[in-house]
Parts: sequence; C-alpha cells; structure tokens
Amino acid sequence: MAGVIPAGDPGAAAPPAGGVAGPRAAAVAPAAAGRSPLDVAELKRDFPVLARRVHGRRLVYLDSAASSQHPTPVLAAMDRYYQQSHANVHRGVYTLAEEADELYEQARRTVGRFIGAPDPAHEVVFTKNATESINLVAATWGRRSLRRGDAVVLTEMEHHANAVPWLMLADELGLDLRWVPVGSDMRLDLSALDRLLDGARLVAVSAMSNVLGTMPPLGHIARAAHAAGALVLADGAQLVPHRAVDVAALGVDFLAFSGHKMLGPTGVGVLWGRRDLLEEMPPFLGGGGMIRDVRTDGFVANELPWKFEAGTPPIAEAVGLAAAVEYLQRLGMDAVAAHERDLTSYALGSLSDRFGKDLVVHGPAAAEDRGGVLSLAYRDVHPHDLAQVLDQAGVCVRAGHHCAKPLMRRLGVTATARASLYVYNDEADVDALADALADAGTLFG
Ligand code: ALA
Repeated sequence: MAGVIPAGDPGAAAPPAGGVAGPRAAAVAPAAAGRSPLDVAELKRDFPVLARRVHGRRLVYLDSAASSQHPTPVLAAMDRYYQQSHANVHRGVYTLAEEADELYEQARRTVGRFIGAPDPAHEVVFTKNATESINLVAATWGRRSLRRGDAVVLTEMEHHANAVPWLMLADELGLDLRWVPVGSDMRLDLSALDRLLDGARLVAVSAMSNVLGTMPPLGHIARAAHAAGALVLADGAQLVPHRAVDVAALGVDFLAFSGHKMLGPTGVGVLWGRRDLLEEMPPFLGGGGMIRDVRTDGFVANELPWKFEAGTPPIAEAVGLAAAVEYLQRLGMDAVAAHERDLTSYALGSLSDRFGKDLVVHGPAAAEDRGGVLSLAYRDVHPHDLAQVLDQAGVCVRAGHHCAKPLMRRLGVTATARASLYVYNDEADVDALADALADAGTLFG
C-alpha cells in the first residue's frame, strides 16, 4: 500500500415502463472535448434525497456500492403503478391485472435487453436480490449437477453472497472449493488459473469487487473456464450499475445483480442464465406461479422464467427497476463509465496529494482498472469512528468488513471505511470527503 494511491492492486431510450420521463435532457452533457460526460449538477436535481441536509450540512452520499439513491422517474413509475395499475400478475383476466402483467413482463424485457440477453423473455428471472440469484443457482444447478469431490473455483475477493452459498453446498456435497488469490497489486492472481480449473465444474467470480473496485478480466476467465469444461457465474452486483454489460459478449453462463444498486428499488434482483441451462435446472422455491399442474402425488413445473418465480413476485419493484434501466440508458452507460473513471481518478489524485502516506486506498493503482469504490485506511483511526465523524459533516460512507471477510483477512484488516461513487457524485463531493477526513485527522490528533 503506497500512500493514498491504491494499496495493492486487485487484480434515446424508450419511455420508462409506465411512461415516466427520463433524466432531465440537460443532464446528459453534449459530447465535447474536455467536458464531463454527465452534467452532474443538473442530474442531482433528479434525486430528491440529495436536497436533504444532515446535521445542518449538505448531504454527500458516498455509499452507492451499498445501495444507490432513486431519481424521480423511478419513484414516479412505482407510484403510478400503485395508483393506477396494481393487481397480482399471471392470475387475473380483468383490465388492471392485464396492465400489471404487461408492465411486469415489459420490465423483464427491458432489463434483459440492458444486459444483452439473447432471449430476455425466457432468460431473465426476477429474484429478491443478487444474493438470492446466486443461491438459486447453487440450490438448483449446483445440487442437481455437482457431486462429491467436484471443484468450484471462487476468488479471495468474493462478497459473502458469492462465497457462503458455495460453502454451504460444499458442506452438503463434499465439494472441492478452490480460491483464486488476490495479488499484491490487488488484482486477481491468475497465474495458477489453469491448475485451479483442472477438473472444475464452475467458476463463480465477482465482476467487480465491492471493496477494491477490481474488475477481473471476465472474458479471459470465461474462455479458460469453458476450455476446461466449467461454467461461469458472474456476480454482477457492482458491475452492472456502472458499466455496459453484454452477457453474450462476455461469454458467462449466469449473471446475478440487484436493482437497488442501480437506481432501482430494494426487493428486486435478477438472475440471467443461458436458456438451455435454466431449462434443465429444477425449480428453486415451490408455490403458486411456478407450476403448470399440481396433483396430490406431484407437480409439473411451469415454463421459463416463471418456473423460478414462486409466489407473488416484486411487481412494483420490477417496474421501478425498468425505469431505472431506462434512466441509465438515457444517460448512456458509456457516459456513466467515463464519468466514474474521471471521478475516481480525481479522487485518487486529490486524496493522495492532500493526505500522502496518512491515507491508504485499497485497490488497483489506476482508475482505468477499477470501479469507483475507495476503501480507506486513515492513520490508525478505526473505520467506524471515521464514518461517524464523516456523518457529522453530512458525508455518508460505509464502515465495516463489507461482507467480504476473506478479503479483509487477505488485506490484513478487520474493516475499512468505504466511499463509493455514482452518477450523482462530483468533484465537490470528493472535496467534501477530503475536508471531513482532514477534520477527523484534527479530532483524532
Ligand atoms: N453488498 C453491499 C455493499 O458492498 C451491501 O455494501
């Protein structure tokens, strides 16, 4: 870890569902040399919560890796759904029910197209969150396909959501879990990948670390995994909100992500899977909606994707997620990515200039190689103390192990204070973080 600069290296959209307007037209800055790809000052006005004051200070929200905020088109789409079109889906033949059906299935198609799904209507399963999506794969594909001694390859930087389901299955089935290490540059050390893949059935890998911002070379990993006969599950919870993702181009077999980290509501997540794999997998949860027939001696599962959607699904949440996707599409995912790279670069540079060796930012050194999460170690101030002091300045960061305890052990820390950037953050927010850090330095001496 060297100073602030990364200690280590990890390795005109259609109207939203329900007809809500997209982001303010002016929020998408015209492409011009030297200009920010997003007009953040204008864009901030789409997010009501950003007008709040906390402890008498302007709210500086730097915790989008935990959960992002909501623009008015998302809130309006959900509000309109509840006020005008709510009914249960896939059950009624009256007008409201048909409208709810159409909005829900339209949301599926919108989300599927956003990630390049070849067959959105069948391959996109709505779940509760990315965690449930990964548990679905472990409990169905994993339990059906894996046998004692089979190898599953994970990485040291996995979120617990992509570690614990496999640890649970390993306990149950006797799997051989293998872990790709994180190198000193905070990237994945893939030097032993071929050996780790030998005999492997699955590679389950984060597409972007929620602690380091590390983005592994997914295409390379997928090609190597497939050559070795293994499937690839990508945990896209952190990547999908921030980069254009195309599942077909990446060559992964499963992709999991959550709505609430990409401007959408909590309570809805997505599992995308290759249709042939989903067809073969048994159902996950049992109940209404996931069956075609039930007798006293058995049942026949429904078709895709409803086979995996037992019970009343997150209808309003799916509508909100579709509106979030359309908002992001209107901004343009290339502009979103460029904005975050610029802002990450600014943050790494300005924090290093200001704090030198007093501040460590865990993660790869170059902004081009990482997402906008900045896990900080500031002098010997405990991350929780730091987060509380920052809150007094209106600055929201997450402190803790970030549900990545194996990675914390690899870094030799128990916790970090993590600032994470998104479309509504700008250099003034980074400066506010730096000012609050300086105040914390004075307070803690
Ligand atoms: N996975 C979320 C985070 O990293 C909750 O904060």
